[in-house]
Amino acid sequence: MHDSIATITLPGGLHVPTIGLGTWMMGEHKRHMPAEIDAVRHALDLGMTLIDTAEMYADGASETVVGKALKDRRGEAFVVSKVVPWNASFNGTIEACDRSLQRLGTDYLDLYLLHWRGEHPLDDTVAALETLKASGKIRSWGVSNFDTEDMEELFSVPDGKNCAVNQVLYNLSRRGIEYDLLPWCQERHIPIMAYSPIEQGRLLEHPELIHIAKAYQATPAQVALAFLLERDSVIPIPKTVNLNRLRENRDAVDLDITDEDLDRLDAAFPPPSRKVPLEML
Ligand SMILES: NC(=O)c1ccc[n+]([C@@H]2O[C@H](COP(=O)([O-])OP(=O)(O)OC[C@H]3O[C@@H](n4cnc5c(N)ncnc54)[C@H](OP(=O)(O)O)[C@@H]3O)[C@@H](O)[C@H]2O)c1
Repeated sequence: MHDSIATITLPGGLHVPTIGLGTWMMGEHKRHMPAEIDAVRHALDLGMTLIDTAEMYADGASETVVGKALKDRRGEAFVVSKVVPWNASFNGTIEACDRSLQRLGTDYLDLYLLHWRGEHPLDDTVAALETLKASGKIRSWGVSNFDTEDMEELFSVPDGKNCAVNQVLYNLSRRGIEYDLLPWCQERHIPIMAYSPIEQGRLLEHPELIHIAKAYQATPAQVALAFLLERDSVIPIPKTVNLNRLRENRDAVDLDITDEDLDRLDAAFPPPSRKVPLEML
């Protein structure tokens, strides 16, 4: 019997599971869509109800996949989408959200993120996100790829403190945020959504990860995800369309890594000892 997946409360009061499903690369090929739709639905079955997509992924076709998967199950999911920076003017954000809603076949997003910083002033984007929230088209908003300085600037604009999440690159081989951004967000109760949590698969060949995983009869991916799940308010969003891997990723929630093995992971993947500028994929 599995433990159920714990939830994290976002600023603003919404609850999300501590692990979700990424959908980057879904929607790229028509012939893969049935399997992708199946994977999203299976994620719901497993309690990984947080589904992360973006207008940028496959030029909107990832949102279309998610929309088809959620056709009769919208209420079960916590849908996250993102506006690209070049659309993030006041009007552009509102129009981009409408297009995303149409592709997703829904009348609200649970969380809408600015994908990364661009040329439009943060005040305008935040004002648009607040307008979308007031109209019920989104239930909360956040940012992505924001480093500590960006977060500080965000907090200085009107309503900037209403940010619910910062989604950034975070995994064993990319621990830079532990120096400053992660504690900054934790102190303010802003969860970090960890993207590319298994480094798009590249982490899984690491000998120490393989060694530690064997001791738990687990897989390297599970240890990499469990490392993130050990942290306060960190939500990994691994992407897979493979149902066995999906179950595997979900079961990382049940894996407890001993302090001794966490020390081994620190030795193999050292935490930062100084500021590392935020990396992006
Ligand atoms: N905000 C941003 O700028 C940003 C940037 C990047 C990603 N993201 C989001 O974060 C999500 C996750 O990141 P990601 O897709 O870049 O990388 P990831 O989740 O670290 O890795 C995905 C890759 O690993 C494979 N995989 C998944 N689970 C596995 C397992 N248990 N064992 C072996 N291989 C496994 C997948 O292949 P299969 O599908 O074939 O299983 C896929 O090729 C994205 O999908 C997207 O939603 C956001």
